[in-house]
Amino acid sequence: MARRVPLGFEPASATIVPGCAASGATAGETSGGTSGETVCLGSRLETDKGYVVTGRVLITGGCGFIGRRLAAELLANGYDVRILDSLVEQVHGPAGSSPLTEVEVVVGDVRSRETVDRAISGVDHVVHLAAEVGVGQSMYEIARYVGANDLGTAVLLEALLERPPERIVVASSMSVYGEGAYVDSDGRRHEQVRRRRSDVSQGRWDPLGPEHRPLRAVPTDERKPVDLASIYALTKYAQERQVLIFGEAYGVEATALRLFNVFGPGQALSNPYTGVLANFASRIASGQRPLVFEDGEQKRDFVHVDDVARAFRLALESPNVGGEVINVGSGNAYSIRWVAEELAAVMGAPQLAPDILGKSRSGDIRNCFADITKARELLAFSPRRSLEDSFEEIADWVAGSEATDNAQRMRRELEVRGLVA
Ligand SMILES: NC(=O)c1ccc[n+]([C@@H]2O[C@H](COP(=O)([O-])OP(=O)(O)OC[C@H]3O[C@@H](n4cnc5c(N)ncnc54)[C@H](O)[C@@H]3O)[C@@H](O)[C@H]2O)c1
Repeated sequence: MARRVPLGFEPASATIVPGCAASGATAGETSGGTSGETVCLGSRLETDKGYVVTGRVLITGGCGFIGRRLAAELLANGYDVRILDSLVEQVHGPAGSSPLTEVEVVVGDVRSRETVDRAISGVDHVVHLAAEVGVGQSMYEIARYVGANDLGTAVLLEALLERPPERIVVASSMSVYGEGAYVDSDGRRHEQVRRRRSDVSQGRWDPLGPEHRPLRAVPTDERKPVDLASIYALTKYAQERQVLIFGEAYGVEATALRLFNVFGPGQALSNPYTGVLANFASRIASGQRPLVFEDGEQKRDFVHVDDVARAFRLALESPNVGGEVINVGSGNAYSIRWVAEELAAVMGAPQLAPDILGKSRSGDIRNCFADITKARELLAFSPRRSLEDSFEEIADWVAGSEATDNAQRMRRELEVRGLVA
C-alpha cells in the first residue's frame, strides 16, 4: 500500500537553483560547507567546491522520530523522498497514523521482500533507519530486535542487489562502543573498559582501570574497538557491518553514522524505551519525578534531531565517505542528573527533583560521548543546536502533546527479569 500522508511541520525553506528545479536540485550546504556556482548534470548538481547529489531517496523507518526530520531536510534540499515504514505500534500508537505530508509512504515491513521491491523501485539512494529501538527491551524481546534490525537489513540488501543504489547510509549507534574511552592519571588511554557486575551491584558506578586505578572519561572516536553489551548494540553493529560489506562487495558507496543520544520535538513520548529526554519530559508533564538510574552522574552526548538530519544529508552528498563509520554527536558530555533537573526547571516544575534510583540496568554503560572530528572533516558537519538552548523547545512541544508516562512499566518489566540491580 502506498499513500501520501502529511509531514506535520513545514520543511525549512530551500533555494531552488534556476534551471535545475525539474530535477529537484538546490543550492544547499555542499561537501565543502558552502554553496557556489552550480551546474546541473542529470541528477547531479556540481558546485565549484564539490558536488551535491540529488535524486530520489528511500528512507526506511522514515515515519519515525529521525526519519520525519530527515524527510523534511531532504525535501527542503530538492530531493524526492519515499518512505518505507511498518508504523510499529509502540512508536506510533494503535491507530498507526503518521503525521507526514508530501511524501510517498509505503506502509509495510522491511522484512517483506515484496514490500521492499516496491519501495526501492526507481530510487537513487537509501537511508536505512528502520529498526526496533531500545536497549532495555532488546534484552528480553530478543527475536523481535534481531528480526527487525538484522533480518530486515538482510532482506533490504538482497533486494538492492537487483537494483543497486548509488549510496546507502545506515543509522548505527553509539551503543556499539559499550563504555566510551578513558584515560588514567598518567594520561594513558583505555579503550576496553568494562564495569564489574559485583562493583556495580554495590554502587561503585565508575569503571576502574588496571590495579583499580581511577579513570577519567574522554571523548570517544571511531577507532575505539566496539564492545557489544546489549542485544540492541549487537543488532546495530550487525546492521552497520552488513551495509558496509555490501557496499564494498558491490561498489555501492556505503556509510554508517553512529548516532549518539538524539533529542528534539517529535520523539515518541509514550514509548518508555526510547530517548531519555522524552522519558523525563513525559514523567514531568504528568507530575512525576524523572526516574534516574545509578547516581545520575553518568554522562551522555545529546545531539539535536535537526543536526542529525543534516548529517544524513551530508553523508549522501559528501565525497570520500564510502566505507566509513562516522560519529554524529554534539561533542559535549552532559550528566543525566543535570539534564533531569534542567528540564524540570524549564517545564515549570523544579520541585520534581530526579528520583535517583541507585540501581543499574543490565547493558547500561557509565559514560560515552562523541569525538566528532571525523564528522567535521569528512562531512563538514558541525552541530548548530545545543541541548542547553533547546530545553524551552522541548517544554513547548511537550505542552502541546499528549504523553502517557510508561516509565514505571518499563522499570517493572526489567525488574521481573533481573535486569535491574
Ligand atoms: N533516537 C536515538 O537516540 C538513536 C540513537 C542511535 C541510533 N538510532 C537509530 O536511528 C534510527 C531511527 O531511530 P528513531 O529514534 O527515529 O526511532 P523511531 O522508533 O522513532 O523510528 C524507527 C522507525 O522504524 C520503523 N520500523 C521499525 N521496525 C520496522 C520494520 N521491521 N519495518 C519497517 N519499519 C520499521 C518504526 O515504525 C519507526 O517509524 C534507528 O535505526 C535507531 O536505531 C537512534
